[in-house]
Amino acid sequence: MRLLISSWSFILYTLLVFLIVQESCARKITIIKDVAYDLQQLTTEGLVNNIMEVENSDHVEMNKKDEHKEIISKDHHNQIDPELNVFFVPKDLKVGKIMPIYFSKKDSSTAPKFLPKEEANKIPFTPKKLPFLLDFFSISKNSPQAKAMKYTLEQCNFEPMEGETKFCATSLESLFDFANYMFGPNSKFKVLTTTHVTKSSIPLQNYTISKVNEISVPNAVGCHPMPYPFAVFYCHSQKGDTSLYEIVVEGENGGIVQAAAICHMDTSKWDADHVAFRVLNVKPGNSPVCHFFPPDNLVWVPLTATP
Ligand SMILES: *[C@@H]1O[C@H](CO)[C@@H](O)[C@H](O)[C@H]1NC(C)=O
Repeated sequence: MRLLISSWSFILYTLLVFLIVQESCARKITIIKDVAYDLQQLTTEGLVNNIMEVENSDHVEMNKKDEHKEIISKDHHNQIDPELNVFFVPKDLKVGKIMPIYFSKKDSSTAPKFLPKEEANKIPFTPKKLPFLLDFFSISKNSPQAKAMKYTLEQCNFEPMEGETKFCATSLESLFDFANYMFGPNSKFKVLTTTHVTKSSIPLQNYTISKVNEISVPNAVGCHPMPYPFAVFYCHSQKGDTSLYEIVVEGENGGIVQAAAICHMDTSKWDADHVAFRVLNVKPGNSPVCHFFPPDNLVWVPLTATP
């Protein structure tokens, strides 16, 4: 019982910190209606999806693949999108190594805010209700925002599977619930994120690795923000062939970033067309693929397993 209480108090503490970090959490729907999406966000969504695709490669059923390839493959001429500078291979992880990395600079004050669970649960969350939802949030039918909402609803509209390993959280509480479910009711966990320790206004620059800390955990839950009028996270669990890292890098143009990263050791079952292979110039199964997490992603790891 005591264990349960201490675990919950830890969770509440984390929650509190998280809320402070998020600046403010619950907002009235009227304010949420004003949140607009720009195309920048849609572009990042393409990246998030490439990362999601990486992490879902065990169960190759991302049928929306072609759709997001369209978003991300602006580069027909072998030019790499700046934001694809997040992939690397494990041998790059050495103190002193210099490499170009893209860390997005989203202004958290304009990011969609979490709704309280009871509020979020009152709003339908299915592609079928899109017309109602567009009306509800005063979003015009053919706008990029509408397209983004449709996309998010479709991505989140998967059938619950046995041993559920993915979940779309429409509130902070349901995000915690999923983490709790994945790690077990009495486990403690913490969140890894990529954060800018000191500011820099240049998203893509050469960074020098100054610290590498490997975190060995049996499993982890990665959560990626999805474009929506309020905060929605696509979360899924990661088991087995992964290594997580906390890395500190220093930009040549200034800016220190504490970054979360993951390496997928077995890439043999991945789609050979995956952009990571092109970026790294490796082939499926020949090399692990690692990537930094964008600053607005959350990686939950159990605390107990950390040495
Ligand atoms: C990083 O440094 C290399 C070598 O000096 C240079 O060729 C490259 O353009 C730099 N990349 C960025 C993004 O500044």
